[in-house]
Amino acid sequence: MAYERLFSPITLRGVTFPNRIHRTSMVSGLTTEDGWVTEDLKKRYVREAKGGVGSIVVEAAVIIPSKSPYNLRISDDRFVPGLTELVKAMREVNSEVKIGIQIMQHLKLSKTGWRQRVEDFKTEELPKIVEDHVAAARRALSAGFDFIELHMAHAYVLSSFLSLVNKRTDGYGGGRLENRMRLPIEVYKAVRGLVGENYPLGVRINGEDFCIPGNTLLQSSRIARKFAELGADYISVSAGSRFEDAKTPAEGNPPDPMSGYSGHRMSPWYWWPDGCHVFLAEGIRKAVRSAGFETPIITAGKIRDPKHAEEILAEGKADMIGLCRAILCDPDWPIKAKNGREKEIVKCAACNWCLEADSRYEQVKCIRYPEGYLSAPEPFLPSMARPAAIKEIED
Ligand SMILES: Cc1cc2nc3c(=O)[nH]c(=O)nc-3n(C[C@H](O)[C@H](O)[C@H](O)COP(=O)(O)O)c2cc1C
Repeated sequence: MAYERLFSPITLRGVTFPNRIHRTSMVSGLTTEDGWVTEDLKKRYVREAKGGVGSIVVEAAVIIPSKSPYNLRISDDRFVPGLTELVKAMREVNSEVKIGIQIMQHLKLSKTGWRQRVEDFKTEELPKIVEDHVAAARRALSAGFDFIELHMAHAYVLSSFLSLVNKRTDGYGGGRLENRMRLPIEVYKAVRGLVGENYPLGVRINGEDFCIPGNTLLQSSRIARKFAELGADYISVSAGSRFEDAKTPAEGNPPDPMSGYSGHRMSPWYWWPDGCHVFLAEGIRKAVRSAGFETPIITAGKIRDPKHAEEILAEGKADMIGLCRAILCDPDWPIKAKNGREKEIVKCAACNWCLEADSRYEQVKCIRYPEGYLSAPEPFLPSMARPAAIKEIED
């Protein structure tokens, strides 16, 4: 079979993921403003599940009640029925795909330009952050998700605790990594305590914050090693999307973590080479392996071609391939690759039209869909796709 490694299964705590293609989390803007599952949201994930991906991480779900428009919510038991329906609908079209959910606590933002920082939490408020993650994980279990991902990347609470930007002085921050890791570890252990030893629990971290004074591969390798030691079932390596170098927002707008250099690294634009973050996964994988752990490492970042994905696995740079925009653009990427129909893949332009919609709190869709579509048509072929925003990728 072509792409033998890409289509080989992988088993995490007894749960078999049918292949190594992993759809990383992507905020869709398809929920209601207050975070309920909608028919459009279900259609998006059902469409993606049908295309043969091995695992899908359903988008970052908010664990606290405070406002966060058009973000999926898992902050109350009332959200469980909608999430249960979502999982059921995806399973009906693909009984093999493993369905996870990413749980996250955001830092609050205001239209005045104010943003909450980790230093703003009082020490006595920190146990509540742990409890909220556990409550969200309990809801994820009730909804029937196959695995949970703890969001410790980008601009959110746990990532900001891990980052060198965290200047707390109470034993939960500062120059010592063990202090910056204290809360994320408490969250990990408490959620593990809830889900037990037979349930996959993954962690997503930044390989680099790509801002001064954020984490580099040096810190992220140590963070990954510690989570491997604690038994995390995978480490998904992302990058960037920090507030520290974001532009000053225009009057009446909240700060946007995507607006600076760091923000431009999370979903690499067309001007970066394909696979420009693989070196982060590779570095982390080496660090984890040299400490004696076999924890699967997931890489992501402008990987668009099945041959390239197979090479990354063959060269031992990662164990699973994260595809986000490539699957948004063409959910049938996996099935087309598997069946030797690579030429029929509708290629992501890396134009970040999708990401810019997210920054505006709008519905996230791909510029290549025909006019009026919220999810890829079925079937979707290059001849049906709207021209890419970026001419040079039209090869
Ligand atoms: C619109 C959009 C929303 C995203 N939302 C999330 C998210 O909720 N959680 C997360 O960890 N990453 C998120 N990401 C980052 C992706 O998961 C991924 O790491 C990044 O886009 C690079 O992979 P790609 O080149 O395959 O798209 C988002 C990316 C985009 C474009």
